[in-house]
Amino acid sequence: VTFDGALSEAVAGQSVTLCLTDEIDCSRGDVIAAADNPPEVSDQFESTIVWMAEEPLIPGRAYYLKLGTQTVSATVQSPKFTINVNNMEHMAAKTLELNAIGVAEILTDKPIVFEPYANNHVLGGYILIDKITNATVAAGMLHFSLRRAQNVHWQATDIGREAHAALKNQKPKILWFTGLSGSGKSTIANEVEKTLNLLNRHTFLLDGDNIRHGLNKDLGFTETDRIENIRRVGEVAKLMADAGLIVLTAFISPFRAERDMVRAMMPEGEFIEIFVDTPLEVAEARDVKGLYKKARAGQLKNFTGIDSPYEPPENPDICVNTVEMSPAEAAEHIVRQLMPLK
Ligand code: ADX
Repeated sequence: VTFDGALSEAVAGQSVTLCLTDEIDCSRGDVIAAADNPPEVSDQFESTIVWMAEEPLIPGRAYYLKLGTQTVSATVQSPKFTINVNNMEHMAAKTLELNAIGVAEILTDKPIVFEPYANNHVLGGYILIDKITNATVAAGMLHFSLRRAQNVHWQATDIGREAHAALKNQKPKILWFTGLSGSGKSTIANEVEKTLNLLNRHTFLLDGDNIRHGLNKDLGFTETDRIENIRRVGEVAKLMADAGLIVLTAFISPFRAERDMVRAMMPEGEFIEIFVDTPLEVAEARDVKGLYKKARAGQLKNFTGIDSPYEPPENPDICVNTVEMSPAEAAEHIVRQLMPLK
């Protein structure tokens, strides 16, 4: 159908309204294809990527991927190699700098409809967009779907998150504490957990220093490692919330993008961002672990607040100022904000 009436035929590029015979949930971004020749659907690919931004690629960070009318969230793994355009040689690389061309695996949070770029430029070509600045940072061409994406399926379980939560008689949540090293995250989270425990809530506290002794002991403090640290902690916290728990996490979690990524994984209202607001001078003066002193002396690289950035939350759900409040007062303030706790 068009504004001027019904057509018997429409061609590529024409703007028309389609009336479907069957009632199907179908909207912008969906792809209609010939039944005998459908395109592929996948969420993991190998791809060529042309990096177009001054800021290099950060492997593991979520970008928007726009392919045709489909927009999803996507993360790029460390490149397999980059291509020297002068002699087509393959070179090892950890990231992609401005104008670099590389081949990497790319994962999307939802399956997309695609065709290999070699067969179809429209369904095989995409751009990546920075979620914070909205700038286009890369253009890419999909090669093929990774086979593992085809062979791993969701297994349905009968006892779901509602059943787990109902048995505990509570609403699961993630209380995500963020702030500088030495801001008081662990101390305050510990106080909050003690109060919740007295209130008969089922809780678990995931603490940065502890998790880095086990699950994440392979990770350091580069940007990439911190992103992976938060990705794993987010996944673990989500599983624990699925198990019906109120999960407290105490990690610096310096980047907005990754905190937002965990928020997006959770149902509305179940991710509570708690900003433990302590100015650098105060955290540094406390220096409980002596790490600021080491960082200032140049013995510890990439230290948050010194030579690695901290991006404070713009709109935290709860904020505690640890200059004005003692840890006990901060904890009390947080628990009050959480009330009524179902
Ligand atoms: S995060 O940035 O990846 O979220 P996380 O909370 O897990 O950090 O770990 C921070 C803790 O590791 C700090 O409290 C501190 O004890 C220790 N640490 C060691 N090296 C560093 C560093 N370079 N920067 C920040 N913290 C460090």
